[in-house]
Amino acid sequence: MRGTATALGLATGAALAGLAWATLETRMFTLREVTVPVLPAGQRNLRVLHVSDIHLVPSQASKIAWVRDLAALRPDLVVDTGDNMAHLDALAPLLGALEPLLALPGAFVMGSNDYFAPSFKNPVRYLLPDSRGTGRDVVPVPLPADELGATMRAAGWKDLTNRRDVVVADGRRISLVGVDDAHLDRDVFPDVEASTGGPAVDLRLGVTHAPYRRVLDQMHADGAELTIAGHTHGGQLCLPFFGAIVTNCDLDRGRVKGLHGWPGARPDAPGGQDSSWMHVSAGLGASPYAPVRFACRPEATLLTLTSR
Ligand SMILES: [Fe+2]
Repeated sequence: MRGTATALGLATGAALAGLAWATLETRMFTLREVTVPVLPAGQRNLRVLHVSDIHLVPSQASKIAWVRDLAALRPDLVVDTGDNMAHLDALAPLLGALEPLLALPGAFVMGSNDYFAPSFKNPVRYLLPDSRGTGRDVVPVPLPADELGATMRAAGWKDLTNRRDVVVADGRRISLVGVDDAHLDRDVFPDVEASTGGPAVDLRLGVTHAPYRRVLDQMHADGAELTIAGHTHGGQLCLPFFGAIVTNCDLDRGRVKGLHGWPGARPDAPGGQDSSWMHVSAGLGASPYAPVRFACRPEATLLTLTSR
C-alpha cells in the first residue's frame, strides 16, 4: 500500500515537473538554420526566413520582440505560412511584431488560426491522428484575417491564397504557387497560367499552411523545387527518442518538421532524384488553450538556398 502511494506520488511529481517544463518551453524561441541546395548552378546564396504558427496573443511581449529581431538577419525573402493570431485583439501587436519584416520582400498564406479564434478543445483529441472536427460544435469567432492580408499585400508581400505570383528577391525571380488552408479544405490548386514569355525564373517555390499529402503532391507535380509549410507545430508534444506523436494532418511523423524530400528521399540523397525539397516549420506558438510544447522548441528557420 505504501509502495503504491509512493509510486503515485512520484508519477504525480514527474507529471507536474513535465507540465512546468512544457509551459517554459513555449518561450524558448529558437532560430534553426538549414541549407537547401536548390538554386541553379553558379548562383550566389539566397536567404529565406520562414516564420509560421506565431499564434500571437497580445500579452506575449517576449515573442513579439523575438520576431521583430529576426529582421536583423537581413533575409532576402520572408515566407509566412500562417496561423498568426490566437486572440481577437492580436492584429495590432502582430503587425508590430512583423513590421520590420514587412519592409522586406515576402509572401504568405493563411491558416485556420488567421480566420477563426481558438476555442477550447479536449486536448486528448489533439493526439488523434487527424484532429479535424474537434470543436465543430463551437460557433467559430472570426479573426481579422482580411485586415491582416490587406496589410501584408500593401507592404508588397505576395498573397498566395490559391494563387500564383512572382517575387524578386536579391535580384532573383522566384515563381510562387500557394494554396489556402488544407486543414479547412479551403485549398484549390491554382490553374497553370499560360506562359507570358517573360524572363526565366531562378526558383519555383510552393507555399502551404498545412502539408497535406494531396497539396504536396500537387506542388511537386506543378514543378515546385522547394515547398514550404507549417501547421504541424512539429508535433508540439514530443517524446524524447521517439519524436512527434501526431502531425495534425496526413503527413507521416518522420517528416513532421525540418528539411525532407517529397514524395521520396531528399533530392541530394540516393534515390531522391525524382523528389523535390520540402521544409516544414515547427512554428513559434501554440493555442492559448494548450500552451505547452515538449521536446519541440518554438522556432523560425533561416533557409540558406545554395546552388545545386
Ligand atoms: Fe498552428
